[in-house]
Amino acid sequence: MGKVILTGDRPTGKLHIGHYVGSLRERVALQNEGGFDKIYIMIADAQALTDNAENPQKVRDNIIEVALDYLACGLDPNKSTILIQSMIPELTELTFYYMNLVTVARAQRNPTVKSEIKMRNFENNIPVGFLAYPISQAADITAFGATTVPAGEDQKPMLEQCREIVHKFNTLYGETLVEPNILLPKNSACLRLPGLDGKAKMSKSLGNCIYLSDEPEDIKKKIMSMFTDPNHLRVEDPGETENNPVFIYLDAFCKDEHFKEFLPEYNNLDELKAHYQKGGLGDVKVKKFLNNVIQQELEPIRTRRKEWETKTAEVYEILKQGTAEAKKVAEQTLHNVRSAMKINYFD
Ligand code: TRP
Repeated sequence: MGKVILTGDRPTGKLHIGHYVGSLRERVALQNEGGFDKIYIMIADAQALTDNAENPQKVRDNIIEVALDYLACGLDPNKSTILIQSMIPELTELTFYYMNLVTVARAQRNPTVKSEIKMRNFENNIPVGFLAYPISQAADITAFGATTVPAGEDQKPMLEQCREIVHKFNTLYGETLVEPNILLPKNSACLRLPGLDGKAKMSKSLGNCIYLSDEPEDIKKKIMSMFTDPNHLRVEDPGETENNPVFIYLDAFCKDEHFKEFLPEYNNLDELKAHYQKGGLGDVKVKKFLNNVIQQELEPIRTRRKEWETKTAEVYEILKQGTAEAKKVAEQTLHNVRSAMKINYFD
């Protein structure tokens, strides 16, 4: 079987720099290092519908946006298979069988799902499908025999639940499914990039994002109005770097070379942080540096995105071919699952 990657995103909006440092950048690196036998990248539209049932147009419109973001970041359809979840009905059938291996109490205990339920104010009106989306995600992962799931920290509970399902399935029906591992970003700042307002994580619904497709002027405006240490009122005051989103973004994005180019009076981020902590370093100077760093990183992505935007028919063709190729693999897994479960009556 070999080493297989599966990961993906819900098409509910354009992708932002939280997605980028949390997973996209790593995927592209893994793709280009060539250490995996297969890489599947899924646009999880069926999952997006679990809390957007009344808004299928939004999900439909964002399929192309997410695909453009992927290609812009450097995912290469010759090396990675990009697919659309709902176009592979085998995934839905797997989900239905896996549902029997999960109790309602277990589904309700998933911490990511719990916090999403709160954020969406579902209260007593949780869609069954929403509660079950981690089970569907287990189907996504196992259908392709994924060994590795590069994702952000919020996906940890999904992987835990998936591994439980795999374990239970294999115990009940015989060794059939592969147990996956999550691959988290090594840099802790990338695990959960906070929003521009310093709150929770960057998220479209909170309106605190820098998008991969943002224009340079918008990026600059957003960075210059970022939240910093609220007690760092005057330049001379000592400042905090720890819970300061400007420094967290620098942790996620900046390299020593950026100092040579944009801020040569410091050698590295540690020196910049030390100065800020001691006092005497203003927020505007740090933000201008952050702006230069992020502009440099996003410029080639935006340029490539604009090129792909002129060829959307070609992008849909990439999705169609990727989906067809992935479907064959999911069919084989479903076949194995049905045999293991003894529901292959006509074989
Ligand atoms: N839950 C992921 C997100 O919100 C998307 C996703 C769906 C996924 N299926 C997956 C991620 C399988 C990793 C593996 O973006």
